Amino acid sequence: MSVNNYRMSIQRNAKPVDINQRKVINGLEADVIQLYPMKHKFAWDYYLAANANHWLPTEVSMQLDIELWKSPTALSADERSAFETVLGFFTTADSIAANNVVMGFYKHVTSPEIRMYLLRQAYEEAIHTHAYQYIVESLSMNQAKIFNMYREVDAIYNKEEFILGFNEGIFDGNFKTGTFANDQKFLENWCVFSLIMEGIFFYSSFAVVLGFKRQNKLIGSAEQIEYIMRDESMHLNFGLEIINAIREEQPELWTPEFQNHIVDLVRKAAKLEYTFAKEVFPSGIFGLNAENFKQYIEFISDRRLERVGLPAQFNVANPFPWMSEVVDLAKKKNFFETRVTEYKTGGALNW
Ligand SMILES: [Fe+2]
Ligand SMILES: [Fe+2]
Repeated sequence: MSVNNYRMSIQRNAKPVDINQRKVINGLEADVIQLYPMKHKFAWDYYLAANANHWLPTEVSMQLDIELWKSPTALSADERSAFETVLGFFTTADSIAANNVVMGFYKHVTSPEIRMYLLRQAYEEAIHTHAYQYIVESLSMNQAKIFNMYREVDAIYNKEEFILGFNEGIFDGNFKTGTFANDQKFLENWCVFSLIMEGIFFYSSFAVVLGFKRQNKLIGSAEQIEYIMRDESMHLNFGLEIINAIREEQPELWTPEFQNHIVDLVRKAAKLEYTFAKEVFPSGIFGLNAENFKQYIEFISDRRLERVGLPAQFNVANPFPWMSEVVDLAKKKNFFETRVTEYKTGGALNW
């Protein structure tokens, strides 16, 4: 076939598109610009749900956080430092996420319904970067310090460098799917992005901010994080569905060696995240410390591995049961009800 992922020509043909030819990657025969009929219906459902959850950082009141941050006594030096380090990671991490979606995934994905959600996801990553910028600006933090931390703090640099190393191959203008090696490379990137970046690196930093909320501190920032987490929980689940869809469509890629490789990467990421936790909590704040974070990181690492059929590595209990209530959205019904309903009403335009 002469078409490739990057330059399409329309093939004149009255025959309906054969939906069985549609694949996450390497499915060009089913035409990437024809949305219906759909094969990956889950992606369309994610797209609709994401639109229903639309939010903007400027809608969240930051007033109490501003007062708290200004107060010389409300937060300890360790608490300030922990919050700044987490923001230092977040401010660049969502830009990395957006780049991965737009420059890594979108171009190579050949399912139009999956592309629809990727477009929405890319916008959400921009909203997340906006939210961190809004927190930094609202609290009159030292912007130059926070936004440059990824280049100054080893524990942040090492995490981001680890992720970016996997982008290099598929961001290359000459990279094309369609060979065994390249398809594995593409799948490796999605595993790193979903299991590790969105599934591990983000979640432990979310936990830090929610730890503040449990102390009734930085509640505006925590509300921003709760909205971000709701989006990220969908990104994570979508990514895991994509990995499983590729496994189903191209099972030959999921070799025992490849599975071991992904497990090794997750183990390496868990170590990097523990190093980061030590940077965040040199001596612990309100019951959160590097050691219980290590256990939390190991607990969520196992959960991510299991979701793509890989063996748990650490077999530890969840040290923060309160996190599963919020982060894993076990109570998502209540959480969703507070805002989404308003949006659905407010979003209905009368002409
Ligand atoms: Fe994000
Ligand atoms: Fe994301």
